[in-house]
Amino acid sequence: MLVQIAAAVLWTVGLACGSPSHGENEQSFGYDSGELDPSHWANEYKTCSGKYQSPIDIEENLVTKVNLPLLRFHNIDTLPTSTTITNNGHTVVLQLNYTAPVMISGGPLTPTYRFTQLHFHWGVNDSLGSEDLINNHSYPMELHMVFSNTDYDDEKIALTKNDGLVVLAMFFEITQEDNPVYSEIVNTLGQINMPDQTSNLLVGFTIRSMLPESTELYFTYKGSLTTPPCLEVVTWIDFKHPIQLSHNQVQAFRMLRSKHGQLTHNSRPVQELSGRPVWYNVGGFAALNTPTIQKNTAASFGLAISKIFMLLCCKLATLTLF
Ligand SMILES: *[C@@H]1O[C@H](CO)[C@@H](O)[C@H](O)[C@H]1NC(C)=O
Ligand SMILES: *[C@@H]1O[C@H](CO)[C@@H](O)[C@H](O)[C@H]1NC(C)=O
Ligand SMILES: *[C@@H]1O[C@H](CO)[C@@H](O)[C@H](O)[C@H]1NC(C)=O
Ligand SMILES: [Zn+2]
Repeated sequence: MLVQIAAAVLWTVGLACGSPSHGENEQSFGYDSGELDPSHWANEYKTCSGKYQSPIDIEENLVTKVNLPLLRFHNIDTLPTSTTITNNGHTVVLQLNYTAPVMISGGPLTPTYRFTQLHFHWGVNDSLGSEDLINNHSYPMELHMVFSNTDYDDEKIALTKNDGLVVLAMFFEITQEDNPVYSEIVNTLGQINMPDQTSNLLVGFTIRSMLPESTELYFTYKGSLTTPPCLEVVTWIDFKHPIQLSHNQVQAFRMLRSKHGQLTHNSRPVQELSGRPVWYNVGGFAALNTPTIQKNTAASFGLAISKIFMLLCCKLATLTLF
């Protein structure tokens, strides 16, 4: 993921070092077994062997249930003025132009984050492909919507801060029917079969149409980019409810080509959790069933009792005064 941004960083580094070969560096990682595979990324990109990497396996019985403020979405109902779709050799990236920026805030986030791009990860067949796993379960595909912290002037600065990026992750499950929201994307993949090919979507889509039915239930944790340079700057928000896509729609992604052959899969294996907390936002009234909240309920019940006593005392005091 985040290859676009990674490429920008590498480009900058390439300039700084006067390296004429940055074009090769941009492509110097892959997913097929061999010298470029994920187990070798750290040779060239040290952070890829960091302690707080992504993806991870999320075990539902080990997460901490929380009831965070609502995630707030801004300008997600407008169609973009233009949409470009690119095969960058590692994934399909969509960049959308808007008259007003798409943003998110709330939930676990303190600042506001601005949408930058979205892209996909998939597997060789329908039984695997997502990057994060839930209870060791892999979904056939995962969508990453990348947002950059608006406190920083641009994405390059955000990439140097541990609260620099937010990625909204959405899992896909296979259904019989095609998902019409993805028709235009899937139909355009044939025009970007080769790496570095770009095309435009004529219609495009709203960000809302890409979100799952409920954005209230999600896992959240701190991790990294899942592609080199694996910077540990990402707050992950993984929605619990999957999105539906047909087998043929996912299959179209597997037909794309990388610099080294067919891009049949592009998911990094899961990394060590290293004691990191993973939160699960239960949202709304569902929270009342969780132990943490029960404690709070008990506390507020106690508070209510003491308020009644105070009221009674005041009433009595008032009575005695008059
Ligand atoms: C956004 O619009 C500008 C100006 O029209 C154009 O130069 C740029 O290529 C567009 N970007 C995308 C991602 O479509
Ligand atoms: C899917 O691919 C994985 C990885 O190559 C393989 O282990 C698994 O057996 C495949 N599953 C099916 C149903 O073909
Ligand atoms: C998840 O799967 C891996 C690999 O198959 C295994 O080593 C690990 O123990 C599993 N984790 C859990 C919690 O079941
Ligand atoms: Zn990604």
